[in-house]
Formats: sequence, structure tokens, C-alpha cells
Amino acid sequence: MISPKFARKTLDKGADGLVLVRSGAGGHTGEYAMLPFIDEVRRFFEGPLIVGGGIGSGRAIRAVENLGADFAYLGTRFLAGRETMISQEYREMVWTSAMEGLIALARHHRCIGKLDARQCRGCGYSIEDMKDAAKLDFSGDMGAGSKAWKHVWSAGQGVGGITKPEAVADVVATPVAEYHQAVTDQSQGSRFGTVPSQKDGA
Ligand SMILES: Cc1cc2nc3c(=O)[nH]c(=O)nc-3n(C[C@H](O)[C@H](O)[C@H](O)COP(=O)(O)O)c2cc1C
Repeated sequence: MISPKFARKTLDKGADGLVLVRSGAGGHTGEYAMLPFIDEVRRFFEGPLIVGGGIGSGRAIRAVENLGADFAYLGTRFLAGRETMISQEYREMVWTSAMEGLIALARHHRCIGKLDARQCRGCGYSIEDMKDAAKLDFSGDMGAGSKAWKHVWSAGQGVGGITKPEAVADVVATPVAEYHQAVTDQSQGSRFGTVPSQKDGA
């Protein structure tokens, strides 16, 4: 869910875990920043919490754990994996795009999508159309037609970290190795010195 309101609603319906999609995510993204969003939800929910949006490295996965989430949810990181079914053109755009190449898309349900400005004219929308919710209709089958993700290419703000063809196994193995390195690095404290302990009067 993309807001504390939807999180509460989902819990009321009996969910025992939550996926928080924060700003910077691909597809139907959220709009809230990760830190306050996790804090806000943690004020009323102690159960399993998954967080997605802009997470692409093992260090980021570790950071999400430190913020109070239990799991990280990666979407964009897998987008251009060799086994995925997106077109070659879309794949190449993922490899060559970075966050500043994305445009925010006005959406119904208060979601904001992310589109690459180089591509949106080719799908029948101008950049201005993309920012005008009234002109967009992504209802129906998202796998067909000129209004689907198949033709309207989307990526999250972590897209700049994907620069080459990779097998999905490597897309998994790399963050796992980075995660363990991040845990080790963290155990060594700050490279700028230690935070004074409380008994030192800090
Ligand atoms: C191309 C693409 C299409 C997506 N489509 C949907 C969708 O139709 N509905 C949805 O709830 N989330 C959708 N998502 C969002 C993912 O479920 C997930 O929340 C998101 O990818 C996590 O953020 P990240 O992409 O920055 O890793 C999509 C993501 C991508 C990259």
C-alpha cells in the first residue's frame, strides 16, 4: 500500500503483513518518503513489514532493516534481467537511464508512475499528457494495447544502478554479497569516528 490510510484499511480487512510502496518505486508507485512512512506505520503495526521503492543494492536492503522494516521489495532491479519478457528496446532504455530521465506521471488513485521522457511520445502520449491524470487511462489489460506497461515503459528511481545485461541469478547474488559486506562494514562503526557514549555526556 502507498499510504498509512491504506495500511490501516488492509489491517482492518485481516492482513497480517504489509507491503509499503514508497516514493521512487516503479510502476504504480507511492508518494511518501521511506523514513517517515515506515515510522508512521510502525506506530500502529508491529508485524511483518516489507518496503519497496528505489531499493537496488545490498546496502539499501540493510538500510531498510535498520529503519525498522523486515524485508525489502525489489522490482526495478529485476526489470532488465535476461529472463524477463520486456522488449529489447525497453531493456536498453533501462540500461541507459538514470533517475533524471524519468518523468512523474499523474495517475488516478493518487499514484505517480515513472516514465522515460525519451519513450513516452512513442506510446501515443506527450510529456504534458503524462502529467495530466485526465488524459491517461491504464485500466484494462496491462499486457496489451498502447496504454499498457508493454508500451508505456516504467522504472523506479533506482534505474541508474542497472547498466548491463545480467541473469536473474546474478541480480540476486550481487545484492546478497553487498548485504553481507554492509553488515560487516556497519559493525565497524562510522569511518569518521565513533559516536560518544552517553556516559561521556553526549
Ligand atoms: C514496470 C513495473 C510495473 C509495475 N506495475 C505495477 C502494477 O501494475 N501494480 C502495482 O501495484 N505495482 C506495480 N509495480 C510496482 C512494484 O510492484 C513494486 O512496488 C516496485 O517495483 C518496487 O519499487 P522499485 O521498482 O523501485 O524496486 C510495477 C513496477 C515496475 C518496475
